[in-house]
Amino acid sequence: MGQNNFWEKVIKRSLLAIASLSLVCVTISGCGRDDLGEEVALEYQTICDEYKDVSPKYVFSYAENQAIDYPTSLGAIRFAYLVHEKSKGRIQIKVYTDAELGDEPDLVKELTRGGLDFIRASMSGLTEYNDEANVLVMPYLYEDADHMWRVLDGDIGQEIMDSFNGTGMVPLSWYDAGVRNFYSSEPIHSLEDLSGKVIRIQESDIMSDIITDLGATPYATMFDEVYSALQTGRVDMAENNLSSYESMEHYKVAPYFIVDEHTRIPELQLISQTTYDKLTDEEKEIIISSAKESALYERELWKEREEISLERVKEGGCQIIYLSDKEKERFRDAVSGVYTKYCKDYMDLIERIQNN
Ligand code: GCU
Repeated sequence: MGQNNFWEKVIKRSLLAIASLSLVCVTISGCGRDDLGEEVALEYQTICDEYKDVSPKYVFSYAENQAIDYPTSLGAIRFAYLVHEKSKGRIQIKVYTDAELGDEPDLVKELTRGGLDFIRASMSGLTEYNDEANVLVMPYLYEDADHMWRVLDGDIGQEIMDSFNGTGMVPLSWYDAGVRNFYSSEPIHSLEDLSGKVIRIQESDIMSDIITDLGATPYATMFDEVYSALQTGRVDMAENNLSSYESMEHYKVAPYFIVDEHTRIPELQLISQTTYDKLTDEEKEIIISSAKESALYERELWKEREEISLERVKEGGCQIIYLSDKEKERFRDAVSGVYTKYCKDYMDLIERIQNN
């Protein structure tokens, strides 16, 4: 399915969400996506017109490091639209995508200081601020996606959200980010094939230990630098979900995608504590309910995008290598040490997750 078809599908599914692109006009005109089409322009105009006489009480910022057509970005736009509508134009949210406001670790720091109002971030970068969050980045923690959603949508998910109390940020909703796999410039079939390979990771001590335990060498760099790190051979491999692999075109420089499913790292939509404290109860309710609605929307888009991404990378010549169950078990055994190293105070929580 081509780029235009993808957009057509997204537009049809949610004209309203796309309409709120009015709030990201800077980003949109910046990347010149003419293919958004007439319908979107019309909706864009409609939402602008509807609230044109309202002078907003707040114009908040929302930072996102993914591309504008990525599920988490569209979720952000949906969120902005819902807040705009429910507050009748009094709360406006300007969404900045494509890491326009900086790389993820800086965005998280800025949020805690109140320099930004909202972000969407991977749990990997949040563990630095909250030890309990380590639990959610443990390798091979869940049986499958349904297991993860049972955990996140239930009491445990809420407990982990609450454990951010005092960090300067308030979690609003869980966003889907699928399952992470390795990808490489050469085929990988076994643990031995990883030996000596340099693998790009997010800035994360846990991930760094996982890579070392697998016999490879970790190399931390920012998300938007991964393509060139792979292209120039600074790293041999990287790891991410299929949608990021496709969206950032990593498949063009690392055409072997190894389905080892080592982690399922969810993402959070967060508001700065400083911003949250300014809001009235009614405004908080608007923000929270819109975040939750937008998360359900993002989960739907995520499923679609994974399918589209798989088609696209295959069309682009990528080879998908499925590890055997036996080999996966060897990967799992090799990395089990991180549980005791990073979660020793939360082993009961781990057990509850595993039994959920
Ligand atoms: C995912 C995630 C990003 C993150 C990236 C990374 O794609 O959605 O927010 O920056 O992983 O590996 O750095």
